[in-house]
Amino acid sequence: MPAPAVPAASIAPIALVGALHEELAAVLEAMPDEQPVRVAGREFWQGHLEGRPVVAVLSRIGKVAAATTAAVLLERFGVQAVLFTGVAGGLAPGVAVGDVVVATELLQHDMDASPLFPRHEVPLYGRARFPADAHWAAALADAASHVLADPAALVGGAAVDDFALHRPRVHRGLIVSGDRFVATAAESDALRAALPDALAVEMEGAAMAQVCHDWGVPFAAVRTISDRADDAAHTDFTRFVAEVARRYSAAVLREALRDGPGALARA
Ligand code: ADE
Repeated sequence: MPAPAVPAASIAPIALVGALHEELAAVLEAMPDEQPVRVAGREFWQGHLEGRPVVAVLSRIGKVAAATTAAVLLERFGVQAVLFTGVAGGLAPGVAVGDVVVATELLQHDMDASPLFPRHEVPLYGRARFPADAHWAAALADAASHVLADPAALVGGAAVDDFALHRPRVHRGLIVSGDRFVATAAESDALRAALPDALAVEMEGAAMAQVCHDWGVPFAAVRTISDRADDAAHTDFTRFVAEVARRYSAAVLREALRDGPGALARA
């Protein structure tokens, strides 16, 4: 049996996960002492952020990559919670580019074992929706509200103008995940019709929520809206991630770590 990566007596770390390099880069830059441990082809960066023990990792893209990453974090690193940060496509009316969505629950929009099970239900779990941890979701939403109060301070006036980030909002609700980048209006219309309460679409969160549910470990996710999951979804995606989302990710996670669950029990 491999030696545990974290000594048993220490405070269990909090996992910070991103799907894209840029999403995690600003988090790693803010960690003073990160050390990589390679497992399953990924670097798991052990260290501290805001004085708390963390493991930061790039999950890569898609549900299977997310599930693999979550399983390693839970089994090998014994994390006490998993926090996912990244970008998503906005689905609900009013969820605009530059807004932030914090999941209250997550669902796999491409799960369909009908007629054996209802559409979207994960077979043998008896559920389609996996709840996010309410305490961490509240901490992420509070942190996002503070960060979005002054986007120019974080990303600069030019990015605010270019991406029209003048009145960004924080939304809380259903995030749906599937193994497709949704980049046509026809597809996002179909998602809205099937799941009218879905706020945003991405490619990892619901898989990670399911794995965390299996281990009984809190999971929460915060996503910056990079596009509207329509025919223009690919436009400026790379620049948005590099200039806006990566800065939001790090700022929101840092504030949530400062004020979120267990904040007093520092290492
Ligand atoms: N992540 C960011 N935008 C997305 C989209 N349109 N579809 C799926 N995942 C995304």
